[in-house]
Amino acid sequence: MKIDILTLFPEMFTGVIGSSILKKAQEKEAVSIEVVNFRDYSASKHSSVDDYPYGGGAGMVLAPQPIFDAVEQLNEGVKPRVILMCPQGEQFTQRKAEELAKEEHLIFVCGHYEGYDERIREHLVTDEISIGDYVLTGGELAAMVVTDSVVRLLPEVLGNEESHMKDSFSTGLLEHPHYTRPAEFRGMKVPDVLMSGNHQKIDEWRHKESLRRTYLRRPDLLTERSMTKQEQKWIDEFKADK
Ligand code: ADE
Repeated sequence: MKIDILTLFPEMFTGVIGSSILKKAQEKEAVSIEVVNFRDYSASKHSSVDDYPYGGGAGMVLAPQPIFDAVEQLNEGVKPRVILMCPQGEQFTQRKAEELAKEEHLIFVCGHYEGYDERIREHLVTDEISIGDYVLTGGELAAMVVTDSVVRLLPEVLGNEESHMKDSFSTGLLEHPHYTRPAEFRGMKVPDVLMSGNHQKIDEWRHKESLRRTYLRRPDLLTERSMTKQEQKWIDEFKADK
């Protein structure tokens, strides 16, 4: 996969793409990530990227020319997904991360405390994504969030231990609780079943605790899920416990 990130603040990305799993993913050549300052594509004498809004009003608006030219020049033939980061976009989810992980080329467009000329939205981008109902100073942090969650899904990026198959949201349920040694810490004990060596019992306990956690914390995730008979029984039990 190729990821290009268009921004006026490339230095913001250094730590995030140069560390941990994103760093390893690039070393393994599962992904190549390029951070591009779209000011470099400005055709104006002073490399400007924004201008006053038509109709007046406060603030500046990112002009179409530098962003259109940058996207067109970065297009290597396979039609890229061009993703505008903005609070008005569709809310980002694990489903969307899985969808984007199938693409060959992603281009993120990050604005910073100003608006985008509407022609960028209408004629250049394929997706508009928001990472939540709050306003950031720019799209950069949001692009890092989306990049991180997409890259970790690429084949061979996570080892077996870090496998994403059991992730919260991939399974439709939140993850069950985890414990490590010691078996007793300050009087707080690890559930006996986890130390029983009975893998069928352990799997059953994990499944039930996943469901309990989802029921208590995120009941909205259960409304569209079809339940097995056993799951329905557990839910009735949780209801009675409440
Ligand atoms: N830019 C500013 N706020 C944002 C948000 N919540 N999501 C994506 N991009 C943004």
